[in-house]
Amino acid sequence: MSSLFRRKPLDALIAEGGDEAHGLKKTLTWVDLLALGIGAIIGAGIFATLGSATSGGTGNPPAGPGVTVSILLTAVACGFCALCYAEFASLVPVAGSAYTYSYATLGELVAWIIGWDLIIEYAVGNIAVAISWAAYFRQLMVGFGVAIPAWMATDYRSTVLAAKAAAESGVASLGPEYALAYEAHLHHPVLLGIPIVCNLLAVAITAAITWILVIGVKESARFNNVIVVLKLLTLLFFIVVGAMWVKPANWHPFFPGGLHGVWTGASLIFFAYIGFDAISTAAEECENPGRDMPRGILGSLAICTVLYLAAALVLTGMIPFAKLGGVADPLAAALTYVNQGWAAGILAFGAVVAMTSVLLVFQLGQPRILMAMSRDGLLGPWFGKIHPKYRTPYVTTILTGIFVAFFAAVANIDEVVQLTNIGTLFAFVLVCVGILILRVREPDRPRKFRVPFSPVTPVLGIVMCLVLMAGLPAVTWIRFGIWLLAGLVIYFVYGARRSRLA
Ligand code: ALA
Repeated sequence: MSSLFRRKPLDALIAEGGDEAHGLKKTLTWVDLLALGIGAIIGAGIFATLGSATSGGTGNPPAGPGVTVSILLTAVACGFCALCYAEFASLVPVAGSAYTYSYATLGELVAWIIGWDLIIEYAVGNIAVAISWAAYFRQLMVGFGVAIPAWMATDYRSTVLAAKAAAESGVASLGPEYALAYEAHLHHPVLLGIPIVCNLLAVAITAAITWILVIGVKESARFNNVIVVLKLLTLLFFIVVGAMWVKPANWHPFFPGGLHGVWTGASLIFFAYIGFDAISTAAEECENPGRDMPRGILGSLAICTVLYLAAALVLTGMIPFAKLGGVADPLAAALTYVNQGWAAGILAFGAVVAMTSVLLVFQLGQPRILMAMSRDGLLGPWFGKIHPKYRTPYVTTILTGIFVAFFAAVANIDEVVQLTNIGTLFAFVLVCVGILILRVREPDRPRKFRVPFSPVTPVLGIVMCLVLMAGLPAVTWIRFGIWLLAGLVIYFVYGARRSRLA
């Protein structure tokens, strides 16, 4: 029993960060971190999930213009958690994020559970973004007169769902959400009797991102900084152009789905905030983590909240919320709705760029978490290999790429978003718990950043995350339970015995 709760001493963790000669390169500044955060945050959530949260569907009531309240609620929840992340990151500046922090506070078993859970946030989250990227990219190409066949831009499961919906209620009544999948259902190549429907666009972008990350983190960060500026401009562009077409009548009723709509909307739009915590996984590659981590995490969260609120207000003012049902590109659709097709094209381009940088940040984070788990002996030593020339964790980077590419080729985006949200919220809960425990267990250890009003702040973070988790469907809870169970089996078969602490 006691071995399940053995904790890794903080000093050992910090020493393991490695020196300049052997560990990862320490080149990132706080501006790089801020960009890394915004790079992770603004993506499929605001460009795609905002539409589903606003219009409801899949059993949920609509949030309508009240989605602004959902955004605020989620921002506050993330704010509490971000403060906890910032304290942890400034205290334990090594790779691994919540996994590493919990190893020092909650013990090995919980650390393993979090590390395993973070795969949902990083790798599974990236599956959703890659799928959404493919949909926008295809749309963008249509604008250039290039028609990419539907069978290489969607997944087989979606075609089955579309065919089922068509069989039940007739082709004429199929909503726009089924258009691409139904087209793929009708027209696809067949190889040896097997229908070929596979999201090759999502696979292609994942392969490209993986290649960039194997080459090196500084190069990647520079690439990311350019993209981040572009995507901030894209959202600002939407807000400024869209504001000219706002009709206040569209804001009535403001809460069409009542409190329930705002709540389930918040559970969905949470996806748009995932990412501020990814910054902490780069702590080991940071020049001055104590000062730069809190700046990067809280700064990026604040900037994104302001932009999201403005974008949601403009969106729901431009177009009646019910018209966003099943629309994959709600912001572009709203611009098209007010006959500003030129602006919709620019927006689609910006969305593709934005989602590219989200993919980059998560694909940067996941391998470093796996690497930290490997250093601790919970995963095989092979996972911790650093490339002799590029000094990047190339084995785990490539492995992550293969995992994301495979599921992006075959999975349905809505299901992936919900699974990502529940897994991430669970990790946030454990991080807040960790802060509470560490304050009692290690009260005197120097912290370059302290969560204000502890224990109130971490407790509020825990409660709000649990409330958001409760807003997700039962099937998501079941999938999440199965994932955690699989993780436990692996831990007891491998990690518990091979652990370096053991
Ligand atoms: N927050 C990230 C996005 O919206 C995951 O794409």
